[in-house]
Amino acid sequence: MALSKQDFELFRAYVNKLSGLVINEDKQYLIESRLAPIMREIKAHGYQDFYQKIQADKTLTLQNRVVDAITTHETLWFRDGGPWRVFEEVILPNFAEQMRKGHNQRFKVWSAASSTGQEAYSLAMLIDNNICQGKLPGLRPEHFEILGTDISSGAIETAIAGRYNQLEMNRGLALEYKTKYFSQVGNICEIEEKMRRRVKFRTLNLQDDFLSLGRMDVILCRNVLIYFSEEFKNQLMRRFAMLMNPGSYFLLGSTESGLGHSHTFDMREHKSSIYYQLKKI
Ligand SMILES: C[S@@+](CC[C@H](N)C(=O)[O-])C[C@H]1O[C@@H](n2cnc3c(N)ncnc32)[C@H](O)[C@@H]1O
Repeated sequence: MALSKQDFELFRAYVNKLSGLVINEDKQYLIESRLAPIMREIKAHGYQDFYQKIQADKTLTLQNRVVDAITTHETLWFRDGGPWRVFEEVILPNFAEQMRKGHNQRFKVWSAASSTGQEAYSLAMLIDNNICQGKLPGLRPEHFEILGTDISSGAIETAIAGRYNQLEMNRGLALEYKTKYFSQVGNICEIEEKMRRRVKFRTLNLQDDFLSLGRMDVILCRNVLIYFSEEFKNQLMRRFAMLMNPGSYFLLGSTESGLGHSHTFDMREHKSSIYYQLKKI
């Protein structure tokens, strides 16, 4: 179905209002290719008719389907390597130290924009594996709360199910982890129930208020800020900081930078990987 300039502007603005995502002028094909299957299915007569049908749907089913379709859920296990080294070699030993000194008994880790769950489950597996190997004296899995959130209800459903096909399993997951934490039924691998219960998932739009999530010791907001406007990105960084204690950790995607926030976060480096800590005043 042909997308006129006017239709493109309508949907571009609508998607931005729904999610904060910025669709550039040259990305018409994105609207066309991702919305076409839904439009065909509901027999929409063009984009204006589709838009009206979305507005008329008080169940928000169509709106949620647009969000699911337009968001990019590309993700993998232990994505980029570096941040996971930081988590294992800097953050977890620091938590063990805090525990030993009696400064903190519970550590909250938030995968904001968790997509289909690989990032949050990678955290759970890494923590469990380190504890099993006796590397974190005093720490037990129940000392951690791991939360994964995403705007896409479809992605969150997959994350909660913890079931992945072979293609998804082959993206970054070491055989050791696959064997230890998954069972295979046919072509599908399912994360162990014990691990599934260690991670909570829920839908959350980062545009909405999230202060009620409470204090976080680590926030991962990776590979999503690149899709937002500078203004929204800056506002989000300020709101993330409000959930953190001085010294709490913040991890971005490998192509993202928190450089503009040096008044709030200290930028640090560990084995060539960048991470951030909320400034101590
Ligand atoms: C490319 S994935 C990144 C997943 C994971 N963090 C990683 O780095 O592998 C980006 C995710 O951000 C989510 N997203 C986009 N806009 C969002 C918003 N306003 N609030 C919450 N999540 C959003 C998308 O649904 C998508 O699952």
